[in-house]
Amino acid sequence: MISDNFDDLVKATIATLQQVADEFTPAVFASSLAAEDQVLTDMILRGKLQDRIGIFTLETGRLHAETLSVLDRIKETYGYDVELYRPQPEAVEAYVKNKGLNAFYDSVELRKECCHIRKVEPLNRALQGKRAWITGQRRAQSSTRAELAVQEQDDAHNMVKFNPLADWSEEDVWHYIHSNNVPYNPLHDRGFPSIGCEPCTRAVQPGEDVRAGRWWWETPESKECGLHVVDGKLVRIKSVTATSF
Ligand code: ADX
Ligand code: SF4
Repeated sequence: MISDNFDDLVKATIATLQQVADEFTPAVFASSLAAEDQVLTDMILRGKLQDRIGIFTLETGRLHAETLSVLDRIKETYGYDVELYRPQPEAVEAYVKNKGLNAFYDSVELRKECCHIRKVEPLNRALQGKRAWITGQRRAQSSTRAELAVQEQDDAHNMVKFNPLADWSEEDVWHYIHSNNVPYNPLHDRGFPSIGCEPCTRAVQPGEDVRAGRWWWETPESKECGLHVVDGKLVRIKSVTATSF
C-alpha cells in the first residue's frame, strides 16, 4: 500500500540525505542499482548532493546485463558516473580454481565465501576513510530487517549507517519512481522484485515473498550476503533513531 503520509515520507527522506551531506561527510551511498536505490540516486543527484555523497556499486562480475544497463541510464538521465568497486582478481581466480565457478550452490559456507570476495571485501575498500554510508534497505523487505532504523551505528565499519527508506513500503518506492520518471532495472518488470547477482537471483511468482528469489535454495535466516549481517548478527549495536519522524 502507498503510505497515507507519502509526501511526508519523501520530505523526511530528502531531509535525511541533506543531513548526511551537511553533517557526515565524507559519505557514500552503496547502490545495487535496484528500485530502492534508484529512488535514493534520484534524490541525491536532483538535490545536487553528489559532491558530498558519492554513489558506488559493487560490480561483482556476476551482475545481470540489465542491471549494468542501469549505469548507462543514470549517465543519460543525470550525467553522473557511478563509481564501480570490483573484487580482487586473484581472490576470484583462486575461488574459481579451487572451489568452482558456481560453488556457491554447494553450501552456505561456500556461498558466503563468494559473497565475501565479490561484495564484502570491495565494500570495505569503498567505505575506507568515510564517516557515514547509506543503503536502500527497507524494514518490510525481510525478517532480518524488521528492526531497521533510519540511522544506526555500524560497529563493523566504525561509522554511521543510514537507511533513509527504512519506513517505505514497496508501493511507495514504485509510486516515487513512476511519479518522477526515475530510470529502473528492466528486470523488475519481469518478476524480479529483489535483484542481486545473476546466478543467485530468480524471478518470483505473484504473492511470493519479495526476497524469495534471492539464494532461493537457502533458508530465510541465512539469506544475507555479509554487507549488512556479519556472522549471523546484524551489523549494529544500537538504533540511534527509530524512524525518521
Ligand atoms: S543483499 O544484502 O541482500 O545483497 P539487497 O539486495 O537487499 O542486499 O540490497 C540492500 C542494500 O544493500 C541496497 O539498497 C544497497 O544499499 C546495498 N547493496 C546490495 N548490493 C549492492 C551492490 N552490488 N553494490 C552496492 N550496494 C549494494
Ligand atoms: Fe557470489 Fe552469488 Fe554472492 Fe554474487 S550473490 S557474490 S555470485 S554467492
